[in-house]
Formats: sequence, structure tokens, C-alpha cells
Amino acid sequence: MDAFSYAGGSLRIEGVSAAAIADAVGTPVYVYSARTVREHYRKLDAAFSELPRIICFSIKSNSCLALLKILADEGAGFDVVSGGELFRAMRVGADPRKVVFAGVGKSDEEIETALKAGILMFNVESEEELENVDRIAGRLGATAPVALRLNPDVDPHTHGYISTGKIENKFGLDLKRAGALVAASGRFGNVRIVGVHAHIGSQITEVEPYAEALDRVGDFLRCNRSAKAPMEYLDAGGGFGIFYRGGEAQPAEAFAHVMVPRIKPLGCTLILEPGRFIVGNAGVLLTRVRYVKTSPTKRFIIVDAGMNDLIRPSLYGAFHEVWPVDAGELPPSRGGPVAAAPGYGRADVVGPICESGDFLAKDRPMPEVKRGELLCVFSAGAYGFTMSSNYNSRPRAPEVLVEGDKFRVVRRRETYEDLVSHETV
Ligand code: LLP
Repeated sequence: MDAFSYAGGSLRIEGVSAAAIADAVGTPVYVYSARTVREHYRKLDAAFSELPRIICFSIKSNSCLALLKILADEGAGFDVVSGGELFRAMRVGADPRKVVFAGVGKSDEEIETALKAGILMFNVESEEELENVDRIAGRLGATAPVALRLNPDVDPHTHGYISTGKIENKFGLDLKRAGALVAASGRFGNVRIVGVHAHIGSQITEVEPYAEALDRVGDFLRCNRSAKAPMEYLDAGGGFGIFYRGGEAQPAEAFAHVMVPRIKPLGCTLILEPGRFIVGNAGVLLTRVRYVKTSPTKRFIIVDAGMNDLIRPSLYGAFHEVWPVDAGELPPSRGGPVAAAPGYGRADVVGPICESGDFLAKDRPMPEVKRGELLCVFSAGAYGFTMSSNYNSRPRAPEVLVEGDKFRVVRRRETYEDLVSHETV
């Protein structure tokens, strides 16, 4: 059963009333359903159960320690892209042998820390990075496990900012260069090429790009395996899309259906790096209406969450369903009333920030709402809080975790003192 329902006419998250959370904690506030996080993790794990696998949750999508702990307890590994994310993974007791480290610009300090922690592998993105990892490993008397991040040059048909596997993107090595690097790997005495990695993008709602990428990665692996480069791991990255408008997401089995048969003959352990798939639809942002005003051409619903809290609509033109907590029924994206129902005037839902780019929803059919009313911004569990900022000197929102009929604040709201605590005059 979906953890987000309008049983009794008002939004409930698992067994807890959204209004009760907002009353107790204030708004804006991020709220996550623990049950949904577990369910999504288990669905993905089950879909790929034919293969030896490690599911490395991508911390960049949601770095909340309480959620990471739930996933670590489920047996998940972690995909990290910075020393800070590695620190978070270690803080919740992650098994370092299930941690992969990606990113085009790892610092020497980050490489050293990760080597000392004993992570599973570095996803290396360039010749210079491989040389550097080799040098640092040599200095520490260690052998660094690395996977080469390949750029398979496929179009994932997603937003340009989050496409990563096309040849013009900054990520990975083209297949020719990667092959040359494997051939020359004898000169790197302190690394072992244990795998290949390809992450082609995010919010991918078609399976074909994965099939195409894996065909190329599979060919590469067959041609370039050697004693020095045993390539036991195939890291297929993350990117599985979720629903924002309703209906656009594919189930995990659809991806598994094209991926498993391509990976199985290679005899590799599969690594997946899902972020959004696990947490995106597990979280919402609750916000309260401060004012409603109408201009000659528009109705503006001015709320207390802004682009500093959720930047996705401003940055990517992303669609997030925004719907009153007391609407009585689910929003259109979740099977509720049709968007054009009579009485639903169109409105922009905007934040308090001093930019016209500060909006959560544009020109959206919305029921009448009043000052003080609570709204829910759906599908905000991924890249919501993690991309939030203090712009306009706004303290960042708290994070709340719901489990069954209980909820707890797992990150408190920032204070004005927090805002200035790193500064001197
Ligand atoms: N692995 C690597 C190497 C990645 O770069 C990413 C995401 C992931 C895994 C996880 O992808 P996911 O499963 O969550 O799609 N801020 C953007 C998304 C940026 C994604 C960056 N990389 C957004 O709000 O849509």
C-alpha cells in the first residue's frame, strides 16, 4: 500500500497525519517514509536477484543519516562522490567493502582517506586520475582497486544537465582511450583494474539506453580483460526514473529484463548506484501558504518554501506535484481528480525568495487555497534537501522520518545562529 494517502480526507504519511507533523515541527519541512525507502530498496534488489550484486545507494540524492542507516541495515552499499559523503557512510556503520567512489575531480586527500578506509573501488574517470591514484596508493604501500568509468556515448533521453553518458559530457573515458589505458596498465604497479563503470544519466524512463550502453560495455569488457585487469565488477550506475507527473516510471523488473541477460554471461558482480529510485517518491516537502494574490493575469500562491529549499523546478524546469494537505483526495499525478476539474483555477506556486525564478509550480490547475493552508510538494525525497541552500539567509528546513504511526525529527531546523556560526567579523 502506498505510504501517502488521503484516508479521512487529509494527507497521511504511513500512519501519521501530515498536518500533525507540520504543527509540531513547523514548515517548510521534508518528510520521509521509512517503509517506502525499504520497499524500494527491496524491489530493486529482488529484480536483480539472478545476479551476484551490491546495491550502492547514491548518497548525493539524499544524505540524511537516518535514511542511510536504514539502507545500511538492509545490506546496501553506498556510492559516494566526496570525502563528505564517505564520512556520512562511515558514520552510519557502512561496510567499506560495499562503497564505490565516483566523480571526475577527486582530491588527493579524498583518495587517501578512501584508500585507508578500504573501499571496494574507485570509479576512475581519466588517465591523470589513474596516475594519481597509483601514486597515492604507492606512497601508502597499498594496491588501489579501480573500475574504469566508461563513456559509452548513448543518449539517455533525459534533461541535458543530468545526461552523463554522451561523448560530449565530462564523464568517463571513451572506449578507445579506456582500452589503451588497460593495455598500458602494466606501468601502474599500485592499482588493480577490478571493474568497469558506466552511469549514463538520471531520471531515465526508458530501458533501451541501458541495453545500448551495456552492449558496448560488455564488448569492452570481453576485449580488455586480463590478469592485470580481471574486471570482476560491472557497475551500471544509477538513473532509474521515478514518477513525478504519474505513470512515467518503469518498474525495476523492466530494467532488469534488458540488463540481466547482458550481464550474466560476463560473470561479473553487478553494482547498481540508485539514488532517486529509492528515495524520490519516499519523500515530500510540506509548506504553508503565506499569502494568496491575484494579478490581472494570474493567481499567485505564495508559500514558505522557496528555491533554496527545493531548487529542481527552477534549475531543471522539473515538475513536482503540489497539492493541499486537506484536499480530501489524492492529486492528479497519484490517481486523484482530473487536473482540469471545474473550480480549479490555474496558479503559480511561488516562494518568498527575491527572484522570479523562485517557483515550485507554474500555471498549475489548483483548488482554491487560503492563507495558512498546508500544501504538499510530492516526489521530493531525491535531490531535495541535498541541493538546498541558505540563499537569502534562510535556515535550512528540518528532516522528519516517519515509521508506522510514529515520526521523529532526524535533522533539526537550522537557526539564525547556525547561519553565522562559521563566520567572523
Ligand atoms: N551514480 C553516479 C555516478 C551519478 O552521477 C549519479 C547521479 C547516480 C549514480 C545516481 O543517479 P540516480 O539513480 O539518482 O538517478 N540533481 C539532479 C540529479 C543529478 C544526478 C547526478 N548523478 C536532479 O535533481 O534531477
